[in-house]
Amino acid sequence: SVYRETNRPQIHFSSRRGWNNDPNGLVYYDSEYHLFYQHNPYETHWGNMHWGHAVSKDLLHWEELGEVLYPDELGAMFSGTAAIDHKNTAGFQKGDKPALVAAYTAHKDLGEGKGALETQCIAYSNDGGRTFTKYEGNPVIDSKAKWNSSNTRDPKIFWYEPTQKWVMVLFEKDGHSFYNSDDFKEWTYQSHIVGFWECPELFELPIDGDKNNTKWVIYGASGTYMVGDFDGIKFTPTSGKHQYVHGQLYAAQTYNNIPAADGRRIQLGWGQDMWHKGMPFSQLMLFPTELTLRTTINGVRLFNEPIKEIEQLHKKSYSWKNLTTQGANENLKTIDGDIFHIKMKVTINDGTRFNFLYHGNSIVEYDMNFNTLNDAFYENGDAGSRSIGLEILIDRTSVEIFADGGAFTVVSSLKEAKTNGGLAFLENKNIKIHSLEVHQLNSIWEN
Ligand code: FRU
Repeated sequence: SVYRETNRPQIHFSSRRGWNNDPNGLVYYDSEYHLFYQHNPYETHWGNMHWGHAVSKDLLHWEELGEVLYPDELGAMFSGTAAIDHKNTAGFQKGDKPALVAAYTAHKDLGEGKGALETQCIAYSNDGGRTFTKYEGNPVIDSKAKWNSSNTRDPKIFWYEPTQKWVMVLFEKDGHSFYNSDDFKEWTYQSHIVGFWECPELFELPIDGDKNNTKWVIYGASGTYMVGDFDGIKFTPTSGKHQYVHGQLYAAQTYNNIPAADGRRIQLGWGQDMWHKGMPFSQLMLFPTELTLRTTINGVRLFNEPIKEIEQLHKKSYSWKNLTTQGANENLKTIDGDIFHIKMKVTINDGTRFNFLYHGNSIVEYDMNFNTLNDAFYENGDAGSRSIGLEILIDRTSVEIFADGGAFTVVSSLKEAKTNGGLAFLENKNIKIHSLEVHQLNSIWEN
């Protein structure tokens, strides 16, 4: 496979060449998970934004299909979503199968000191996202004058059952606006909430898995979020602003149209500022995660964990219980490889700090005194606990850490690929390792 170069991620999607940033148009349709993405086909840095396209049957293995939306006279192709128009509200359907409709931002630079004009446009596909036709009535929203702002972009669209309308959440100026439409083409402004930047998301989730007790989650590109209520028109927060993630995750988006039988809220994020030495591409898509709402002692919070499909990549597994750091290191020394899924539960019996190393560098540093995980504020939900649970994904150029069942996520990059294991605890007699699992992983690009 062409995706096996030394510094190419092996459990994350990256494009064969060029640059990628935000995931766009995440939608499940006809047994395929679609991943569209911000793509510069010509260079390994940002610019010339197109929508690239890849599909997967299992959210692990991807087939890259090439560019589908090209810059036009309205501008470059910025971020947006895709939805399936089951009721053919827009009239774009041809044949039996509903149209896949994308909403995106056309970004046009207006020249020296004039900022940009960002308008919202739609395009539809009748062949499973392989090709698109842009709507002749584009743009469908032009709100620069209303907001006196160059920042009006990144439409997230979904069908809202109770009012039988399309809802668009749009980043405008200093927060997210809500629009309604009956037909995808005509949009009516409803309300606005301040305090979010770029790439809006809004979705409903059961609390602790109880489908009769739900809340809505709103977030922007950086991963700050609020929990609240939504009636199709207005979002009313019932929580403060929280942060579920720290580090190099940006512009995450969740899948539309996941079958009810599955029911998961599945997210993909951009691995921001992840450079790949000597490679014909840069940046990557983070590993898909499942979002849930759970009750903690601090209130209802958003949790983020790798999707369970990760287990399908397990190649060789090791597991131990009740170890000292010294004992664990004896075992870890025997493990080879360069892509890992690790789970552990540790207790700090004296002092406050715990470190896990990869080729001699600390990739996890938890400090119970400062309440930090890799220098980011993380208040362990289990108050007074000396323990922390960690799930870690190590790929050739990235590390993703999920603490305490997904209560907090930290994402960071690695400069270049290493081989031969390299996993170790910083030795400390006061640390007790209750359980440790290490899974070497198969590459998603094998075969
Ligand atoms: C977020 C973002 C979006 C924009 C896109 C352009 O990373 O700045 O707001 O649509 O990237 O590539």
